[in-house]
Amino acid sequence: MGLIQWNDSFSVQVAEIDSQHKTLVNMVNGYYDAVVKKESQAGLAKLIQGLEAYTIKHFDTEERYFEKFDYADKAAHKRAHEDLKKKVKDLKDKVAKNQAVLSFEVGKFLTDWLTNHIKGTDKKYTRCFHEHGLK
Ligand code: FEO
Repeated sequence: MGLIQWNDSFSVQVAEIDSQHKTLVNMVNGYYDAVVKKESQAGLAKLIQGLEAYTIKHFDTEERYFEKFDYADKAAHKRAHEDLKKKVKDLKDKVAKNQAVLSFEVGKFLTDWLTNHIKGTDKKYTRCFHEHGLK
């Protein structure tokens, strides 16, 4: 049972990206569950490393399309990605130092990402991607 269930309001209307976003939602939900259930540090460390790696892969996917399609808002969007990457890294570093990660911190990360980034920032590229035939 995670914090957020995927629904169409998260869709950017691009199948490949929606699929990656769903994976990310599942991974963040899984991480949140592990924190709530007081998973071992080793277990949390493994989950957060996987989340960080997938986050980077996902942002690279979007950024490759930004370059390919010369997306007008690419600079600002890349800056937002850097900020989110830093947030994941901060969580990872906390786990690595055996500092407690609180469920609200994970919830905050999820909210920032889904509500602000996917729904706010990612959805802006839908028209550009569609104009270049990517759906
Ligand atoms: Fe789907 Fe811009 O991250």
